[in-house]
Amino acid sequence: MAAAVSDILRMTFSLLLLMLLTFCMKSIKLEAQAGLLASDEADALREIATQVGKMDWNNKVDPCSNETSWVTPTSSQRPMFDNKVVCNCSFPGGVCHIVAIFLKGQDLAGSLPKSIVKLPYLKNLDLWANYLSGTIPREWANTKLEILSVAVNRLSGPIPSYLGNITTLRYLNIQNNMFSGTVPPELGNLINLENITLSANNLTGELPLALANLTKLKELRLSSNNFIGRIPDFIQSWKQLDKLEIQAGGFSGPIPSNISLLTGITELRISNLLGDGSEFPNIEPMEGMTYLMLSNCNLSGSFPGYLTTMARLKVLDLSFNRLKGDLPTNYDSLVSLEKIYLTRNMLSGPIPTWIESRNTRYEFDLSYNNFTEIPAPTNCKETLNLFKSSWGGNYSKPVECLTDFCSKDQYAVHINCGGPETTIGNTIYEADDEPGGATKYVPKREVWQLSTTGHVWDVRPTADDYIAQNKSVLRMSNSQLYTNARLTPLSLTYHVRCLVNGNYMVKLHFAEIVMRDNRSFYGLGRRIFDVYIQDKVVLKDFDIVKEAQGVDKVYIHNSTTLVTDRALEIRLHWAGKGTTTSPKIGIYGPLISAIDIESQFKPPNKGKRKRLIVAGVVVLPLFFIFVLLFTLWWKGYLGGKKSRDPGLQKIFVFFPFTVMIA
Ligand SMILES: *[C@@H]1O[C@H](CO)[C@@H](O)[C@H](O)[C@H]1NC(C)=O
Ligand SMILES: *[C@@H]1O[C@H](CO)[C@@H](O)[C@H](O)[C@H]1NC(C)=O
Ligand SMILES: *[C@@H]1O[C@H](CO)[C@@H](O)[C@H](O)[C@H]1NC(C)=O
Ligand SMILES: *[C@@H]1O[C@H](CO)[C@@H](O)[C@H](O)[C@H]1NC(C)=O
Ligand SMILES: *[C@@H]1O[C@H](CO)[C@@H](O)[C@H](O)[C@H]1NC(C)=O
Ligand SMILES: *[C@@H]1O[C@H](CO)[C@@H](O)[C@H](O)[C@H]1NC(C)=O
Ligand SMILES: *[C@@H]1O[C@H](CO)[C@@H](O)[C@H](O)[C@H]1NC(C)=O
Ligand SMILES: *[C@@H]1O[C@H](CO)[C@@H](O)[C@H](O)[C@H]1NC(C)=O
Ligand SMILES: *[C@@H]1O[C@H](CO)[C@@H](O)[C@H](O)[C@H]1NC(C)=O
Ligand SMILES: *[C@@H]1O[C@H](CO)[C@@H](O)[C@H](O)[C@H]1NC(C)=O
Ligand SMILES: *[C@@H]1O[C@H](CO)[C@@H](O)[C@H](O)[C@H]1NC(C)=O
Ligand SMILES: *[C@@H]1O[C@H](CO)[C@@H](O)[C@H](O)[C@H]1NC(C)=O
Repeated sequence: MAAAVSDILRMTFSLLLLMLLTFCMKSIKLEAQAGLLASDEADALREIATQVGKMDWNNKVDPCSNETSWVTPTSSQRPMFDNKVVCNCSFPGGVCHIVAIFLKGQDLAGSLPKSIVKLPYLKNLDLWANYLSGTIPREWANTKLEILSVAVNRLSGPIPSYLGNITTLRYLNIQNNMFSGTVPPELGNLINLENITLSANNLTGELPLALANLTKLKELRLSSNNFIGRIPDFIQSWKQLDKLEIQAGGFSGPIPSNISLLTGITELRISNLLGDGSEFPNIEPMEGMTYLMLSNCNLSGSFPGYLTTMARLKVLDLSFNRLKGDLPTNYDSLVSLEKIYLTRNMLSGPIPTWIESRNTRYEFDLSYNNFTEIPAPTNCKETLNLFKSSWGGNYSKPVECLTDFCSKDQYAVHINCGGPETTIGNTIYEADDEPGGATKYVPKREVWQLSTTGHVWDVRPTADDYIAQNKSVLRMSNSQLYTNARLTPLSLTYHVRCLVNGNYMVKLHFAEIVMRDNRSFYGLGRRIFDVYIQDKVVLKDFDIVKEAQGVDKVYIHNSTTLVTDRALEIRLHWAGKGTTTSPKIGIYGPLISAIDIESQFKPPNKGKRKRLIVAGVVVLPLFFIFVLLFTLWWKGYLGGKKSRDPGLQKIFVFFPFTVMIA
């Protein structure tokens, strides 16, 4: 009886389950049927595939089905890669429309797709990091795009004026291409623009006044171009501006004084302004300032005290200016502070005690200034760079933890920058593989030391920021010199000491081991930097790949340098030029593989000293035997005590002298 009841129950349950399942399947099927892409949009996608050179969309399945060729899961293996067609299926009648296309990091080698104009609901197109060429198609004037990125490609020609017709645009990024010519005034029609990035192109001319109409601007980036004239006064119209980045834009100073009206700015990065200098701009009202870089802007005057009251300030970079006078003494309000770069100014007076005694999580770079000398060993900290911080115009005496003692005269120094000790022929290249740092000067060696300044902006710090590793097998001779290289995001000095004064041949070895030159977005980077020897520029806007005629190829720069105060200084500097986003974000700045420094004169005593040593090795034992024999004879053990001969005494006195002059 009980068994029968349980059987019935079980059957009922199974039936219910089956009914539920069928219902579910039906509803899923219904939903899938409802989620079909309008057929004209499916056709447009096929045209787009041809135009951009996309081979792997599966046209047998519906583009809105989320099948993996249309929506590929992201993977940490390929951080730049993104492949996604996004549909909105909530339109009346259950029709789907394409609203976004992401084709990132795919090396697509076609052109920008004209046919997106046939996707009337498309709002977001992101083609970051491909190998697309040509320019922006005229058809795009009739799209309703809101977000558009064609960054990191090899697009060229002028920015077309009809780009100004896409008045729906809120975000525009064309950085890391080769667009040239002037910015068309029609871009001033893009009144909904919030964020615009034109960096790392070859744009020129002045910024058109029409851009004053972009009153919703929050972020503007114009770095690494060839603009002319001043940063325009009309920037004061951009009242909503939050981030402004103009590093090596080509502009001349001064910074417009009315920048003080842009009180909402939290990130201000202006560097490498040309022309005559100016006073420090008034940015006191920007109370939310978080990242402030005014580097290499030829700014004069004193350090603005109000900066130490900015509670949100994390990074302050005022390096390479002409700031004078004392630093403020109170830094208590800088509760968010991480890094300060005051490198190469003319600051003087004492170094505030707070800076010396601070927690080492704050990184400070005071190198190349004119502070009052501070006593060693307080200046020996990993995160406080005091290299030449009190040089006072005299390069022979940088402030160091070391004394200025040299245990030996040097005529040659060889360094395997970024790598371990290695031997090539008879030459030993010293290791230079200590990790770098943002504000680091730790003089561990007697003969040469490294001062490093700068961190990589816009990315999280990694070990790769200061030392590069080769990405492919290197086939040049002496490849062990090139498998690692020293990098710097701003400035790097090799300071070589204890050299005997005279002329030296300096050979700087370079090979580009990070950027690639294949038909890929990995090949779209341009590393450009300057090199100074003894403070004179020897390489300006230097591009290793250009000079070596390819990646993984060697270029050796040779020059003769006069050493007059026993020290030689080689400094690499990033002046904001080139790209910062290829092969990936944060790849930029000088790279150096090895250094040879050799005197062009014969070490004067080297030969003599060698002979002296050889003579000593041979003669000394003989001498002691002789002394022994002489003593024995003198004491009469060898007989003939009475026949002492003053002649022998003379030899005894003269013998050491003979050794000396040998
Ligand atoms: C595709 O994925 C999106 C987001 O995950 C989702 O909203 C949509 O319903 C999916 N479409 C289909 C047909 O499964
Ligand atoms: C999809 O389109 C409908 C109709 O235009 C709109 O109301 C909805 O906000 C859209 N959904 C998304 C996620 O954009
Ligand atoms: C852009 O808009 C202007 C007028 O607003 C129009 O004359 C011009 O034809 C448009 N350009 C394109 C390429 O559609
Ligand atoms: C523009 O940048 C701001 C941050 O400054 C961000 O909050 C906003 O979402 C961006 N706008 C667009 C359209 O991407
Ligand atoms: C940049 O444009 C200028 C003309 O404005 C041209 O002379 C120069 O060759 C261009 N540079 C590159 C790298 O194409
Ligand atoms: C800004 O826009 C206004 C109205 O849209 C227009 O009259 C004015 O000429 C524009 N300014 C510039 C400098 O183009
Ligand atoms: C700067 O702003 C003030 C106040 O808004 C204004 O009177 C002045 O004309 C502006 N200066 C320039 C150069 O635009
Ligand atoms: C900086 O400005 C001064 C005077 O204003 C000028 O003499 C000097 O040449 C400028 N320096 C640079 C690097 O342009
Ligand atoms: C450095 O400071 C000293 C005074 O401490 C001053 O005499 C000298 O002119 C300064 N040098 C530079 C380059 O500013
Ligand atoms: C620099 O310092 C060295 C050593 O202290 C001294 O011999 C030399 O005269 C100084 N040079 C100048 C220009 O002051
Ligand atoms: C770097 O170069 C060395 C020497 O050619 C080679 O053995 C090594 O495999 C290379 N590393 C990579 C990641 O290709
Ligand atoms: C520098 O000297 C090396 C030999 O040490 C030579 O191979 C190289 O071509 C020279 N570089 C230039 C640019 O002449």
